[in-house]
This record gives sequence, structure tokens and C-alpha cells, in this order.
Amino acid sequence: MDRKDLVNKDKLPKHVAIIMDGNGRWAKQKGMLRVFGHENGTKSVKDVVEGCAEIGIKNLTLYAFSTENWNRPKKEVDTLIKLLINSLRKELKTLNDNNIRLKGIGNLAALPKKAQTELKEVIDKTSENTRMTLTLALSYGAREELKNAMISLCSKVKNNIISVENIDESIINAHLYTYDLPDVDLLIRTSGEHRISNFLLWQIAYAELYFTDILWPDFRRKDLFEAIINYQNRERRFGKTSEQLN
Ligand code: FPP
Repeated sequence: MDRKDLVNKDKLPKHVAIIMDGNGRWAKQKGMLRVFGHENGTKSVKDVVEGCAEIGIKNLTLYAFSTENWNRPKKEVDTLIKLLINSLRKELKTLNDNNIRLKGIGNLAALPKKAQTELKEVIDKTSENTRMTLTLALSYGAREELKNAMISLCSKVKNNIISVENIDESIINAHLYTYDLPDVDLLIRTSGEHRISNFLLWQIAYAELYFTDILWPDFRRKDLFEAIINYQNRERRFGKTSEQLN
């Protein structure tokens, strides 16, 4: 039986987030340069985006570039940015054909101008699409996101726009980059590493975590379906007891 047929369409995670890891090791195993791994990683991105749309996932967020990734060798950073620009150019039509909206989160202003322009164009041209939201985390760090939210909230308090007593979780949520996305239900990390690496710290509070040894360039939609089936077989209690849920 096809993995896809084992996915319960009535119990889909509302938001899947993925830490795409292992591009470098995949290339090294093949005796190639790290950039070869990143190039092949884009094929996995395409397949997984299509797989999500195919089964009806409404929100997919991909960790494409962290604030820490700026510390990599310049040549590797340049390649990652170039791959991003090329993918955006190439996939605009695919996104529109599939009714997928693109969103970017992170310190986007830190990206090279050309990448910012390309990103803005694709975001604008897909803004009316409703089937799925694909969010790319670029120059993203969760602590920075939280810091920015706090600065914004503090300045609103200072200017009497909101009062301290009124600050609740929904107001904090509204000040995050992900203000228009639901919490993450399923977080996947590839390549056998068991870390969160400063990704969506607030949004994963109740997420199910799924780790696989598969390196990102080998990850395909069948592996995504496997992760979703695994998620669907877990009992999510949100702090309650099993008896209370039943
Ligand atoms: C982690 O592998 C991967 C990244 C830092 C970047 C992910 C980028 C892509 C898949 C390509 C471009 C993205 C888009 C959205 C078009 P790693 O280099 O950390 O691997 P390693 O841990 O084996 O060294």
C-alpha cells in the first residue's frame, strides 16, 4: 500500500515545520563539495512542498537559513543565496499553479538586495493563494524573533497603545513573524541530529518532534508521509490525562 493512502486526511497536522539538515554530509559521502548537497537539497524542497499540497497540509515552514549560517564560509553562503534566488525565479509559476502562498520570516533585510527583491516579488505575486502557505525561514533566529516582539510590545506600552495588564499569549503571538500561522503541530529534523537550533521556540510549545536519520537531499514526500503517519499514531494530551481525552 502506498504511504500516502495510510495518511488520515481528517487528522492532518495544521502546521508542519522542517529543519532541513545533512546536505553537507550527504555531499561528503559522495566525495563532493558541500554546495552539491545544497543543490540536491532543493530537489527535496520541491518534492516535499508538492507532497504537502497533495495531501492537504495547510502550512509548511522550512528552515532554509539561520542567523548562525552567516558564519559559514562566504562561498557556501553565496551558493545558498544563489540557490534561493534561482529557486524563487523557477518556482513562481509552480506556486501559482498549485495555489500556494509564499511567506518569509526572519531578518529578511539582512539578505542581499537581489534576494530581497526576488523574495518580495514572489510573496506579492502569490499573496492571494489559499491552498497552502509555504514559509521560508531566512536569516531566522527564534530568540531574535522573540526579542523583536518584546521591543515592539515595550514600545507600545511606553506609548500607551497597550497596557501591561492586557498582555496575554495571543498578543505576544500577534507580534511574532508567524502572527498569521497556527502553532506548529509537527516538527521534523533530518540527518540524525536531535536539536531545535533556535527554530520557532514559541511556536513549537506543544509540537510533536520527529527525528529521522535520512539526510535532507534523500528526503522525499514518502518520508514526509511516514512522519505524518507516526504523528497521527501519537496521543497529544496538551497537559491533560489520557482519561480526560477519552
Ligand atoms: C543544512 O545542511 C541545510 C542548510 C543550512 C540549508 C538548507 C538549504 C537548502 C535545502 C537549499 C535552498 C533552500 C531553498 C528554500 C530553495 P548542512 O549544510 O548543515 O549539512 P551538514 O550538517 O551535513 O553539514
